[in-house]
Amino acid sequence: MKGQIGVIGAGTMGAGIAQVAAQAGHKVVLTDTNPEQLQKAEKQITASLEKLVEKAKISAEVAQEIKGNLHYSIQLYDHQDATLVIEAIIENLSVKHELFKQLEQIVSATCVLASNTSSLSIASIGASLQNPQRFLGIHFFNPATLMPLVEVIPGVATEQAITNSIENLIASWNKTVVVCKDTPGFIVNRVARPFYGEALRIYEEGVANFETIDWAMTQIGGFKMGPFTLMDYIGNDINYTVTETVFAAFYYDPRFKPSFTQKRHMEAGFLGRKSGRGFYSYAENASPLQTNEDRQLGQAIFERILVLLINEACDAVFMQVASPTAVDLAMTKGVNYPKGLLAWADELGAQWVLDRLEKLFAEYGEDRYRPNPLLRKVAREGSKFIS
Ligand code: NAI
Repeated sequence: MKGQIGVIGAGTMGAGIAQVAAQAGHKVVLTDTNPEQLQKAEKQITASLEKLVEKAKISAEVAQEIKGNLHYSIQLYDHQDATLVIEAIIENLSVKHELFKQLEQIVSATCVLASNTSSLSIASIGASLQNPQRFLGIHFFNPATLMPLVEVIPGVATEQAITNSIENLIASWNKTVVVCKDTPGFIVNRVARPFYGEALRIYEEGVANFETIDWAMTQIGGFKMGPFTLMDYIGNDINYTVTETVFAAFYYDPRFKPSFTQKRHMEAGFLGRKSGRGFYSYAENASPLQTNEDRQLGQAIFERILVLLINEACDAVFMQVASPTAVDLAMTKGVNYPKGLLAWADELGAQWVLDRLEKLFAEYGEDRYRPNPLLRKVAREGSKFIS
């Protein structure tokens, strides 16, 4: 029989994670301190299952079974029979510490404990536990029901056997699992930073406007969404905060420097789609886009952002955060990149990438353009990242 899964926090992420586990055939207990949030989660999950029935993805009986697998509660105690509990409450270290202290008194000695945190370290959350060996990060992407990627993050104290069993369990939930080191931003939120940061920088230098940069990245680069459209979609408040957190966590490495432009948009309340205006206006009478479809300009913009992304992917591999295959999987399954960045580098040639970075580095003299040693090595050897 499949073990019982506990999910704590019935917000955006918790509700999605609970649904994923229930769809995988587990009995799931979803708890939250706020009963209204639980009702909202139940409605959301029910609506999502009905949609799956409408689209003939599942039968009405299966939907009923999944609904029957879910139990909603305000009692933390209801996690007593869980084999795994995933925490998805607010991103606050002391609140998470308090929760895990209570939870450890309730669950069995063999129950695995996990956090869905995006920006706190697994080591710091686990430090409050009596038994941090059974604690690790299980990082889903929003929306958890649709995004295939899950990053599994062992902390320094996590037992290897626990990591292995969770990797297998989450893979059995029909997810693509990548295991990565407990470093800021894990894989996706680290490697993706230049997609936003370099686009903002290009805009700030007056090279092109938002729509032209988005056009270059989608029409020339093949990305599903341009950086400014994506930042508006994510929300400038959320995206800016992730950048600022990663920047601080990397001891202010200039590679991750946040942008004034994005900060000003955030300060002005231009948060994106959710506020009706971000980099673009979402009003009905919004003025038409002013795209400059100059191929040469578009190609230069695309290449500049791409080589910075590849450099970041190299750094994640160089610093042993994850394997080249895991980094490529993370970026294609977690943020829908059209190709894995390292496979892309192999296609273009590491020397081609290095030449472009060297040129930027020589031009600006800024550390954000410094080529990664692994890129230099692969270029020198004429080898490949992915064998
Ligand atoms: P949310 O604000 O939508 O939901 C948080 C929920 O936790 C609320 O329902 C709240 O009532 C509940 N809660 C707060 N304190 C609690 C406590 N002590 N005990 C039980 N329930 C409590 O937050 P969201 O966006 O779902 O984020 C949750 C976690 O997931 C955070 O750690 C965040 O960093 C992480 N995350 C968020 C992603 C996103 O795109 N929103 C993506 C991946 C991870």
